[in-house]
Amino acid sequence: MKKQDIPEQEELQILSLNAFSGMGGAMAPDVAALVERRRRAFGAASVLFYDEPLRIVRAEGAYIHASDGRAYLDFYNNVPTVGHCHPKVVEAVRAQLGAFNTHSRYLFDVAHDYAEKLLATFPAELSNLVLACTGSESNDLALRLARKVSGGEGIIVTRTAYHGNTATVTEVSPSSYKTGAPPRHVRMVPPPDPGLFGNDIAQGFADAVKAEIAALKADGIGFAGLLVDTIFSSDGVYADPPGFLKAAVEVTRAAGGLFIADEVQPGFGRTGEGMWGFSRHGVVPDIVTMGKPMGNGYPMAGLVTRPDILDAFCADFGYFNTFAGSPAACAAGLAVLEAIEEDGLIANAARVGRHLTGRLKRLQARAPITAVRGAGLYLGIEFGTEKGPAPDIAKGLINGLRDHGILIGAAGRYGNVLKIRPPLCVTTAHADLLVDTLEELLA
Ligand SMILES: Cc1ncc(COP(=O)(O)O)c(C=O)c1O
Repeated sequence: MKKQDIPEQEELQILSLNAFSGMGGAMAPDVAALVERRRRAFGAASVLFYDEPLRIVRAEGAYIHASDGRAYLDFYNNVPTVGHCHPKVVEAVRAQLGAFNTHSRYLFDVAHDYAEKLLATFPAELSNLVLACTGSESNDLALRLARKVSGGEGIIVTRTAYHGNTATVTEVSPSSYKTGAPPRHVRMVPPPDPGLFGNDIAQGFADAVKAEIAALKADGIGFAGLLVDTIFSSDGVYADPPGFLKAAVEVTRAAGGLFIADEVQPGFGRTGEGMWGFSRHGVVPDIVTMGKPMGNGYPMAGLVTRPDILDAFCADFGYFNTFAGSPAACAAGLAVLEAIEEDGLIANAARVGRHLTGRLKRLQARAPITAVRGAGLYLGIEFGTEKGPAPDIAKGLINGLRDHGILIGAAGRYGNVLKIRPPLCVTTAHADLLVDTLEELLA
């Protein structure tokens, strides 16, 4: 069955996937007590994973230790990219907090050591860095830059995109909508899925972008740009073929828009092919946004762009962000960059990712798996049957894996794609444990 022929199923919001419902089995008394305190203090906005939430006590490398005395192998978390509690990052932050910490309106050497080392990983024209605290702030600022430079308002994103939580960024994050639809200046295109576009994904995706640019124009809305997560994680993980984004970027620029690459998910070496997801596609974005793995858990984020873009924005507005680029943040970020190099994590992501992909593709022949996709240590396993997408299988596996001591999450329009994005220090033995356990559960 072709994807366009699949009957519409219930769509899932990314923030609701694998959420605690209160309908699960009995909880350990210490866990139940904390769940109750959490419900009282944090109310309706509090989201927990699993029907029996984990109460975490410590973490190290690829493992999270919980109050039930078990060590859980973390295949979910792309924040502690160099490993949970990496000693180098912990020590760098501890030492900086013990020396001094302040906002960024003073000179301190670590800011420059960090900025220069980070910028050296980008194409030369992307030579200005703005630091922020969250991926949402970075995307919010990116939208302001794109709108200023293009003179337009209209933004194109993918159908199940998530780019963050500010008022403006929620507008461009269709996967957060529980009801309603994005506003008129936000247009959606399908993800770059071979089931939708056939073999010529580059052309199909570019045509979809072109059609939405025309639709914006027809409604009298100027085009500001195309914003995509370059591994399309919340859409269900789409990485191949490398280079497919190039045609859509050309269409975007020809219409006067900017290309914003959201590297919050694939960035910092996860694809195993260099630092950034966009470079797999042979494009140089106008703006690149970063977050999650940047401080290995210390909250830091940012964007890089060309000076002409930043100059145009700064002619109209000031930008200050109290905690962004603090000495402690820069120390954390610098330690992350050094750990990626010293621990050989990009090569490890390539090696373990290749091994894992090979094993998952062999498993595919014996399981209701419709696709294994991704790059390096960002992989998606899509489940489906002749009836269409199978979110129930993915949900069952998430809970079954947890029972076997492995943490993992889901993505995709229907929540039927298991999302694999462990700390980059995982080994092939960890990968084997994941696939062996999946095999056992599927049997
Ligand atoms: C692709 C992408 N962009 C941006 C964000 C927002 O980052 P933050 O939660 O740090 O604001 C997320 C968070 O999940 C994300 O996945």
